[in-house]
Amino acid sequence: MSDSDRPRPLPSLAVASHKGDAGRVTLLAGSAGDGGRAMPGSAVLATRAALRGGAGLVSTITLDDRVWAAIAAAAPEALPVDVEGGAGTVERVAYELERRADDRARAVGPGLGRGQVVRPLVEAFLHGGDGPLVVDADGLNAFAGRPQDLRRGRGALVITPHPGEAARLLDARVGDSEDARIDAARRLADSTCSVCVLKGHRTVVVDGDGVWINSTGNPGLASGGTGDVLTGLLTAFLAQVGEAFSVGDAVRAAVWVHGRAADLAVESTGVRALLASDVVDRLGAAERELD
Ligand code: APR
Ligand code: MG
Repeated sequence: MSDSDRPRPLPSLAVASHKGDAGRVTLLAGSAGDGGRAMPGSAVLATRAALRGGAGLVSTITLDDRVWAAIAAAAPEALPVDVEGGAGTVERVAYELERRADDRARAVGPGLGRGQVVRPLVEAFLHGGDGPLVVDADGLNAFAGRPQDLRRGRGALVITPHPGEAARLLDARVGDSEDARIDAARRLADSTCSVCVLKGHRTVVVDGDGVWINSTGNPGLASGGTGDVLTGLLTAFLAQVGEAFSVGDAVRAAVWVHGRAADLAVESTGVRALLASDVVDRLGAAERELD
């Protein structure tokens, strides 16, 4: 890796910091509260990664009791916020976002399924606050063929599709070559006015600064849950955006640290056995390398 590929380090915490300085974040993952299959694991992984990313407080909105219970058990440091699913879900979520208007960054999407309510839930996040927002996974699938509908009036948007999600958004296959991946990421960044992170081997990041290709990570990451880890970590890094650390810097740092944590983890697990949780456990060590 050349030094020019290395993202800018995160801002350091002042010695007299309190929880608010590191940034509070809100996540919605695991279930859309519509009776579909719950995916507690996606919410747990995103929540734990956001904690390891240094967020001062992580509030994870849960729309299913099973997701709430899983977070309470696996991430005692987090604040799972139980919101009743079913009729009126979107209004209740919008209310929770309003109550947390000062949160620095938000994320929506992992494990929400393919129900009708997912799109209005994402729209509540698009319009609910000024801070940076990450839309991932099912949150993106809800905008298949209509990426332009993801544009926000205010606040930065970061989208994190894997190639399948990118293809659904664009309604066109995304080729495997680097050129094809860069082209797809550019088209998505343009149509959504976002920073686009097109994931996979050599993740492509397109923002106003141009194209950046990640050099960290390994095939062990091609396993369920690792994308949810990136979403949580990225949200925590976005909460730390300031004068000397832009949205693009936060995105590049998160993608690099995520891959580097996986590289550190496989030193003991090997590539085949790597689990998303192992990546969460190495995030701190990878962050230290970037500092
Ligand atoms: N080399 C380096 N990094 C990789 C590689 C690779 N060969 N393969 C995957 N990655 C990284 C990606 O860059 C990304 O950060 O691992 C992460 C995978 O993220 P996702 O594809 O979002 O995976 P995830 O959501 O955890 O699980 C897959 O997506 O299509 C849905 O429902 C499907 O459950 C499945 C889920
Ligand atoms: Mg994913």
